[in-house]
Amino acid sequence: MISFNKEQIYIVTGASSGIGEGVALLLNELGATVVGIARNEERLNSMKAKCKYPENMYIEIKDLAEDIDGLPQYVKDLKNKYGKFSGMAYCAGISDIQPLQLLTYPEIDYLFKVNFFAPLFITKGLLDRRNNIGKGTSIVAISSIEAYLNDRGMSKYASSKSALISAYKCMAAEVAQSGIRVNTISPSDIKTPMTMCEAAQSLREHREEKYPMGFGEVSDVANMAIFLLSNSSKWITRQDYIIDCGVM
Ligand SMILES: NC(=O)c1ccc[n+]([C@@H]2O[C@H](COP(=O)([O-])OP(=O)(O)OC[C@H]3O[C@@H](n4cnc5c(N)ncnc54)[C@H](OP(=O)(O)O)[C@@H]3O)[C@@H](O)[C@H]2O)c1
Repeated sequence: MISFNKEQIYIVTGASSGIGEGVALLLNELGATVVGIARNEERLNSMKAKCKYPENMYIEIKDLAEDIDGLPQYVKDLKNKYGKFSGMAYCAGISDIQPLQLLTYPEIDYLFKVNFFAPLFITKGLLDRRNNIGKGTSIVAISSIEAYLNDRGMSKYASSKSALISAYKCMAAEVAQSGIRVNTISPSDIKTPMTMCEAAQSLREHREEKYPMGFGEVSDVANMAIFLLSNSSKWITRQDYIIDCGVM
């Protein structure tokens, strides 16, 4: 049985919704201290209201796309406020389907800020040895099955997620000798506000038939993230885990 203690402090980005909320709540339930980050204060507070140990759940309002260069300093400031981190689950992300002829540079740039540059630079801050606990630190980020499928209209989103997997594998190689682990998870369709919103309805109807067990649940991804953050996976690093009901 996986458990944590309150001296183990984890950053969870995207904690106001979907997969990030699920990871934040489960980590807290299993005993860890969580610093949940997102932009929407109301949704962060409603996540906190659901958690088992509210005294071990902290929320931070932050737009991760607004100052990428400043993210390592932001992590240092969080460390000074909460203590050294045992790891992070980077679950913030945005998705967008756009055929090539509709792509614009500012939109690609914004999506890459949230899906690629922010996880890269927040991880840079975390991997500064002054900000983490050293051996036993574990970092996980949510990529996407689209990094492998390369579907039509997905060049922007899929490339941000492939870049994330590659960068995390490189970083994992850099820190393995310090006993620090870095992994990614690539889910397929999971029931969250991202996939269940009205805008995604036509796509959803078309995609749901693919899965013999239906769409995935948030817990399907959250359980894997918790395993990768925990000591139970202490010899696992530099991996990407596909969670797609065996479809690919
Ligand atoms: N759901 C799926 O089927 C699926 C499949 C594969 C991969 N994924 C990936 O899994 C991750 C989580 O997706 P989800 O389905 O849980 O999505 P979601 O419910 O829409 O949640 C996205 C989260 O990201 C946060 N976020 C977005 N932009 C941000 C910004 N600029 N600064 C700070 N936080 C920001 C949002 O918080 P605020 O709005 O409060 O800032 C929210 O908490 C994403 O990376 C997504 O690409 C999802």
